[in-house]
Amino acid sequence: KGKVKTSWVCESCGYSDGQWWGSCRSCDGVGTMKRFSEGDGGEGRISSGFGVSEKVMGTWLPQQAGDIGPVRLTDVNRGVDQKEWRIPLSGLFGNEVSRVLGGGLVPGSLVLVGGDPGVGKSTLLLQIAAIISEGHEMRQSAPVVYISGEESIDQIGNRADRLRIGTEELFLYSSTDVEDILEKAQPLSPRALIVDSIQTVFLKGVTGSPGGLSQVKECTSALLRFAKKTNIPVFLIGHVNKSGDIAGPRVLEHIVDAVLYLEGEKHSSHRLLRSVKNRFGSTDELGVFEMSQSGLQAVTNPSEIFLSPQQIDSEVLAGLAVTVIMDGSRSFVLEIQALCVASSTNSRQVTGLHTSRADMIISVLMKQAGLKLQENGIFLNVVSGLTVSETAGDLAVAAAICSSFLEFPIPPGVAFIAEIGLGGELRTVQRMEKRVITVAKLGYKMCVVPSSAVKSLLDSLSTQDLIKMEILGCRNLKEVINHVF
Ligand code: TYD
Ligand code: MG
Repeated sequence: KGKVKTSWVCESCGYSDGQWWGSCRSCDGVGTMKRFSEGDGGEGRISSGFGVSEKVMGTWLPQQAGDIGPVRLTDVNRGVDQKEWRIPLSGLFGNEVSRVLGGGLVPGSLVLVGGDPGVGKSTLLLQIAAIISEGHEMRQSAPVVYISGEESIDQIGNRADRLRIGTEELFLYSSTDVEDILEKAQPLSPRALIVDSIQTVFLKGVTGSPGGLSQVKECTSALLRFAKKTNIPVFLIGHVNKSGDIAGPRVLEHIVDAVLYLEGEKHSSHRLLRSVKNRFGSTDELGVFEMSQSGLQAVTNPSEIFLSPQQIDSEVLAGLAVTVIMDGSRSFVLEIQALCVASSTNSRQVTGLHTSRADMIISVLMKQAGLKLQENGIFLNVVSGLTVSETAGDLAVAAAICSSFLEFPIPPGVAFIAEIGLGGELRTVQRMEKRVITVAKLGYKMCVVPSSAVKSLLDSLSTQDLIKMEILGCRNLKEVINHVF
């Protein structure tokens, strides 16, 4: 008893190993292996490590496997209806949140909602809390507990006022101690519990400060256990750090049932809610919202939001083309801007793209597609401020240049996904389906892809996704120019 087990966990992929290695043996990440102490093994730790009465707490805290024996299948499946049952989340958001969760909130599930600081996570979850509590479709309100380790009850109250939430059964509590939180929440038998945020809470007896790898992992396990034991669904808010992971460790994604990311650009009021993991549904779901004076609102016609304001107006600008890039499992729709101006210096200015890649695309356009770009100054820019390092954006770069050069605006609702080879040929890129689904779901009308990718795309995408979107396969740049321009 009292022996501490040390393991090494990769911050970026969650791989764990009993031994330290210079790089992760699973994802090859360098310097990502972080020491993680498991505490004492099993029972010893649980009964000795925590001050609170074991009767209440013991069962929720992370335990070794084997605390329940094997259960007969027919006993497990008793009441299948109840298993299928989901808490509806309609109302304020139409169907957006429900859909992203795969058709409602599954009782006893642990859902992680991640996003950059300030993107609107607390706002979204307070609104969700109100919807669940009011329970329109269930015709009966029920308690929902919103825990904040970041803000005082008054601050949350002010936000609720701004959101015009006056739900009777919404309970607010400010605490960072997981034992305390669960002890206070359980007697209310809430319909849902919300913890804002995982980086601020801690478990007594676990080493490390709140937000550290051990605390984040142990607290999440404790909340998972609570959710499973009580059948109360738990939402967990997590800040994404600079490298794009929640609390650094991707380990969290392995523990929870569902992972949703709330995304948005600084200068835009639009927010995307995306499921990147869901044990109870599809992960290609995307909800689109707009941050308003009174909280988040569902956007019903999302196809327009990624276009420049000029494009939405009747006057469509030349020199704009849209593509989809991937960041880990997340996909982003980006707009590439090009400006070609007649100039003898043929200067190039490139922002958000690798200059060498841009040079190559311009050279291929001249040589293989016959564009007379020699006497042009060319400016290239990625609208969001992101840097595109993927070749999947090649075709959109080329299309934007063509569009500006030919002074022919690309019609709104067209996306381009392909790598360009030195011969001007279009090549397929990884995760083609996921990218195509992203634009299809956003209501785009046409997606230009390499012709070699068309068959497998049509085979693997459900007809539902493509119902409104045409997939245009092209072999090379010349074909793209002939079909689009
Ligand atoms: P918040 O939910 O606090 O973000 P997070 O929890 O992800 O850090 O939201 C922060 C921003 O949202 C803040 O800049 C103010 C803005 N906001 C609105 O625009 N409208 C609103 O109704 C509310 C509540 C917030
Ligand atoms: Mg917050």
